[in-house]
Amino acid sequence: MEKREMLYEGKAKKVYKTDVDGKYIIMFKDDATAFNGVKKGTIVNKGIINNKMTSLLFTLLEENGIPTHFEKMLNDREQLVKSVEIIPLEVIIRNVAAGSLAKRLGLEEGTKMNKTIIEFCYKKDELGDPMINEDHIYALDLAKKEEIAAIRDYSLKINEVLIKYFGEREMKLIDFKLEFGRFEGKVILADEISPDTARLWDAKTDRKLDKDRFRRDLGDVEETYIEVLSRLEK
Ligand code: TMP
Repeated sequence: MEKREMLYEGKAKKVYKTDVDGKYIIMFKDDATAFNGVKKGTIVNKGIINNKMTSLLFTLLEENGIPTHFEKMLNDREQLVKSVEIIPLEVIIRNVAAGSLAKRLGLEEGTKMNKTIIEFCYKKDELGDPMINEDHIYALDLAKKEEIAAIRDYSLKINEVLIKYFGEREMKLIDFKLEFGRFEGKVILADEISPDTARLWDAKTDRKLDKDRFRRDLGDVEETYIEVLSRLEK
């Protein structure tokens, strides 16, 4: 396996072609941004932690019947994945009110809700990833009805598996973001699951164990990322 030219550089990752058809390499960086790139910084060794955590969680999800793009971890910062066509949606799953939802609906962070919420955002940095509904998705032809049905089913299943897994490790899964891609005509999970893309609170104290420590300048950012990975590896 040989790494070839870089195809794409995002805020937290780089994607490379390889000499094998249909396989890409993803490299996880230490760069951290918030508020659509307005706040910039570095979280030392974040790339290593997010690569390991995504590898571990995508393997867990595959074992639970969720198809993913993940093939194998190559080294500390890189993983081999299937090349997919990313569906330009950020799928947000919320179990407890926090972040932009708490703000938008005037709820206190930590408020329990009667139902798990799935939100869709249009993945477009220039627009700040606006929230959209299914009508917008079909009107803009961002995805087909069957694809959204599969995305909803997978998202709820992933939520169930992750709530249990994090719960057994003394963490509450407050909310998280997923991205899906098209592979051989089917929808599969892509991107990452990490403290960058999920809110995790300590089960006993509600201490924030995720990127909100960076977004909100709460301190102990690096230590917290290490703590989450060490809980997951137990
Ligand atoms: P929000 O409350 O800011 O809308 O974030 C909801 C979840 O989505 C949270 O777990 C963080 C994650 N997220 C991303 O992964 N990328 C983003 O660009 C944003 C805004 C949120």
